[in-house]
Amino acid sequence: MWLYLAALVGLYHLLRWYRERQVVSHLRDKYIFITGCDSGFGNLLARQLDLQGLRVLAACLTEKGAQQLRKQTSDRLETVILDVTKTESIAAATQWVKEHVGDRVLLVGLWGLVNNAGISIPTAPNEWLTKQDFMKILDVNLLGVIEVTLSLLPLVRKARGRVVNVSSVMGRISLFGGGYCVSKYGVEAFSDSLRRELSHFGVKVAMIEPGVFSTNITNMEAFSQSFRTAWDQASPEVKELYGETFVPTFLESLETLKPRWSKNLSLVTNCMEHALTACHPRTRYSCGWDAKLFYLPMSYMPTFLVDFMAYWSSPRPAQALQLDLRGLRVLAACLTEKGAQQLRKQTSDRLETVIPDVTRTESIAAATQWVEECLGAEIHLDFFYHPGKPPLSTNIPTGVFPILGTFTCQA
Ligand SMILES: NC(=O)c1ccc[n+]([C@@H]2O[C@H](COP(=O)([O-])OP(=O)(O)OC[C@H]3O[C@@H](n4cnc5c(N)ncnc54)[C@H](OP(=O)(O)O)[C@@H]3O)[C@@H](O)[C@H]2O)c1
Repeated sequence: MWLYLAALVGLYHLLRWYRERQVVSHLRDKYIFITGCDSGFGNLLARQLDLQGLRVLAACLTEKGAQQLRKQTSDRLETVILDVTKTESIAAATQWVKEHVGDRVLLVGLWGLVNNAGISIPTAPNEWLTKQDFMKILDVNLLGVIEVTLSLLPLVRKARGRVVNVSSVMGRISLFGGGYCVSKYGVEAFSDSLRRELSHFGVKVAMIEPGVFSTNITNMEAFSQSFRTAWDQASPEVKELYGETFVPTFLESLETLKPRWSKNLSLVTNCMEHALTACHPRTRYSCGWDAKLFYLPMSYMPTFLVDFMAYWSSPRPAQALQLDLRGLRVLAACLTEKGAQQLRKQTSDRLETVIPDVTRTESIAAATQWVEECLGAEIHLDFFYHPGKPPLSTNIPTGVFPILGTFTCQA
């Protein structure tokens, strides 16, 4: 039975692999229009498709970006200046594309439209931001995508071509405040309805959902500056709630994640290329290991679990409701007596401290005995949180969360 099942799964993947390898013909005659080609994925995709011999119409935000791209590519690649937030700029670029994809009698159409242009700042906790901050991102990432698509759609339909919208894993799971996740959820919704409508006309719509990659959009310097600006504009009440240490703590925690961000941008551009050139493109492409193994599986988890993971893994505002403040009896383990003293000063008499070193078995044994004495006969331990490795010894049934550490409950 299991053997048949494995054989069926193997056959399915083999067929899928074969099907996905079929490439459309006459690629050298096909025009592809890409937005946001100054840097990052758009820039690499333009160069990649140019090398493959496709006719790339690359839209850049700045003349400098356009010049640099032209220097690195063949004469076939042409550039135009486009700001996706400006209707007149989109109209002018559409006219320019029309002139390139054929004269009025023999219009071959636009094979591919790649909506790639995007920004990510200002990003900060929602309460620090204004409506204008949200609009700034939505204007580029969502309304820009919609207006460019509506404007170029007649040309794409003519070619029975492809629309490739660059979304993000943050369009599947919203892990931080500000307009970015909102915009990417919007791109997903727009793409889903567009795909269904355009299927009647032979046009295919694909979504690209990258994880986190090192590009200008994830530049830490720009991000830190924008985060601090958002903090500066926050109301005194909000500042008091979050506390002065929130900004440095948050930025430090982000800095520790930075080495894990992928530098291999071709993981994304290869997906874009497949969406444009394969006979049977996928509807969604998740690009990068973090997207495939972490964010996407997380997006399918029950919401309460995702909330729990986000709650424990993100920095806490200074005046967040704390367990001691909530009236729970907290047994707090600190590594040093100094840390324990400071904590006792800030909390009620209910909170008690112990000093175990979690790398030493005898220290853990002593702490366990202390916990047992504190609990007494009739009281039980409801909740155990350990931010690192699982405990070396405990009588309590243990479940291990890979991200959060260990969480145990009395049965
Ligand atoms: N990097 C990631 O981790 C990641 C993850 C998921 C999704 N994405 C998405 O991938 C897309 C490309 O981002 P990227 O990572 O390649 O970053 P990037 O290097 O900053 O590329 C974004 C491009 O969009 C351009 N742009 C910005 N505002 C524009 C406007 N108003 N009109 C036209 N073009 C504009 C930028 O021009 P300038 O360079 O001149 O500013 C730049 O060329 C974005 O949609 C982003 O949301 C990125």
